Amino acid sequence: MLKKILACSVVTLFVLVGSSSCFAADAGPTDITITGTNIKRPKPAQFPHKMHQDKLKCAECHHGMADGKQVAYTDGMEIQKCITCHNAEVLPGKKSGKLKLDTIKGAGHGNCLACHKKLAKADPALKAKKIAKCSTCHPKKKK
Ligand code: HEC
Ligand code: HEC
Ligand code: HEC
Ligand code: HEC
Repeated sequence: MLKKILACSVVTLFVLVGSSSCFAADAGPTDITITGTNIKRPKPAQFPHKMHQDKLKCAECHHGMADGKQVAYTDGMEIQKCITCHNAEVLPGKKSGKLKLDTIKGAGHGNCLACHKKLAKADPALKAKKIAKCSTCHPKKKK
């Protein structure tokens, strides 16, 4: 609570400059490039964050952890980068079916790709937009 009050007063100072509100949760960046861990064959993923926020609930993608177990998202909770937990130190050997949850790829594909595949199957318009294709999230490098 104290942390929140402090954060709020700091935000209030900046309201004059920016447009952030003290009462809304930190929404994070509008567009994000999620970088992987494979240095030899990098496959960064492009992610229009704001566009997804307009359609989906935060809890669809964000969660926390307590005692090594997943904790559901609640408004105002601290949001961390996926790789903070989805790495071999924090979740060693953790799997969900074939998904390796101790990698950023597992987290990304378990969340992003799973939803895109489900939607492409259910909605021909989204299928036509190729939302489940690799290049939608991993655009080819511009030369
Ligand atoms: C809906 C979005 C989405 C789609 C579609 C998708 N990916 Fe990914 N992929 C991600 C995200 C997010 C990550 C984790 C961040 C990163 O490594 O780029 C990731 C990671 C990866 C990685 C690991 C990169 C690394 O550095 O560790 C590989 C390899 C990969 N994807 C290949 C593919 C292939 C091949 C396809 C098509 C079959 C595909 N992806 C489709 C979102 C997607
Ligand atoms: C479709 C999935 C999705 C939805 C919905 C979503 N986010 Fe995110 N958000 C992400 C991903 C992925 C990242 C990047 C995490 C990373 O870089 O590892 C992120 C990053 C963030 C960050 C920055 C975290 C950091 O430390 O860099 C904040 C803050 C955030 N989101 C807040 C929200 C809030 C608040 C909502 C609901 C209004 C929301 N997000 C909805 C997927 C989502
Ligand atoms: C604070 C730690 C933490 C952060 C940050 C985190 N996760 Fe997780 N995640 C977990 C834990 C713990 C589990 C459950 C692992 C188990 O026991 O199977 C999990 C499970 C998952 C699963 C598999 C189960 C499911 O819900 O589908 C996916 C996919 C996933 N996380 C994606 C993500 C993505 C994407 C992000 C970033 C937007 C993220 N996680 C951020 C801790 C975290
Ligand atoms: C729960 C469902 C869901 C999740 C999770 C999700 N998406 Fe999406 N995503 C969508 C929908 C729906 C659209 C299509 C919106 C439209 O075109 O109408 C979309 C569109 C996109 C697009 C295309 C944007 C465009 O300009 O056409 C990209 C890129 C994308 N998502 C990347 C990601 C990445 C990366 C993640 C994970 C970090 C992710 N998505 C997670 C539902 C999801």
